[in-house]
Amino acid sequence: MQIENAVALVTGANGGIGKHYTETLLALGATRIYAGARKISSLDDLVAIDPDRIIPVALDITDETTVEAAALQCSDVNLLINNAGIGLLKGFISAPNLSAARSEMEVNYFGTLAMCRAFAPVLKANGGGAVINMLSILGRVNFPMNASYSASKGAGYILTQGVRAELAAQNTLVIGVMPATVDTPVSQDFPPPKVAPETVVQAALQAVVDGVEDVYPGEQAETMAAQLLSDPKGLEKAMAAMLPQPA
Ligand SMILES: NC(=O)c1ccc[n+]([C@@H]2O[C@H](COP(=O)([O-])OP(=O)(O)OC[C@H]3O[C@@H](n4cnc5c(N)ncnc54)[C@H](OP(=O)(O)O)[C@@H]3O)[C@@H](O)[C@H]2O)c1
Repeated sequence: MQIENAVALVTGANGGIGKHYTETLLALGATRIYAGARKISSLDDLVAIDPDRIIPVALDITDETTVEAAALQCSDVNLLINNAGIGLLKGFISAPNLSAARSEMEVNYFGTLAMCRAFAPVLKANGGGAVINMLSILGRVNFPMNASYSASKGAGYILTQGVRAELAAQNTLVIGVMPATVDTPVSQDFPPPKVAPETVVQAALQAVVDGVEDVYPGEQAETMAAQLLSDPKGLEKAMAAMLPQPA
């Protein structure tokens, strides 16, 4: 599949990586980009770049009414980019309650699942197409400082495998993108190294062209993915060692 002449929908298009997806799709010649956001006014600057090709869509992926409405409105989509996500930086045990863990699961897992379910028939009707799920390397190994986020992205990883299997018969390519830290406003307080959002987006869109299912963009993600194969227990211990210990 080529990006030129594709019709894409990007969830969380007003966010750090979402804006890059939208702008890069535009530059690569996508026919139309539906830009999804909870607050449609947050898309004003993005839509102003090319109002004929960037179409704002009111979309909260945890609200099945807006998800179903988007599937009706965007019936020509052949590239679904599940980019929307939240990370609340909570531990499993140190969090005061289950609220963050539930919210992360609601958005990162159930929201992404709802989008895949709503758009599966749309993609089928448009020849198969592709789905990009924005996951995280933290979905492959737990990072205790962002523990419940890791779990929700791990659920997203398993979701991605299952959706891939179910949509294979309709010729839909299902891609999981698993970066380490990406240089966006949400990660401004995180330590380096950080991969540029442009690098993440280019790698994800190239995977659509090349038919690649698992994408680890940037050196840090590549190194961690290699360690998951060579020394998974060592990686788990290294992540655990980053958790500040009580005095
Ligand atoms: N930045 C990183 O280091 C990093 C690393 C690995 C993976 N990722 C993943 O990459 C994706 C984008 O991250 P980012 O860095 O661009 O973060 P971001 O700037 O916070 O963008 C997240 C986007 O998701 C949207 N969103 C949140 N809840 C939503 C909901 N219920 N329905 C629809 N949209 C919703 C946000 O919209 P609102 O403005 O309405 O909140 C925002 O547009 C996320 O899935 C994230 O987990 C990021």
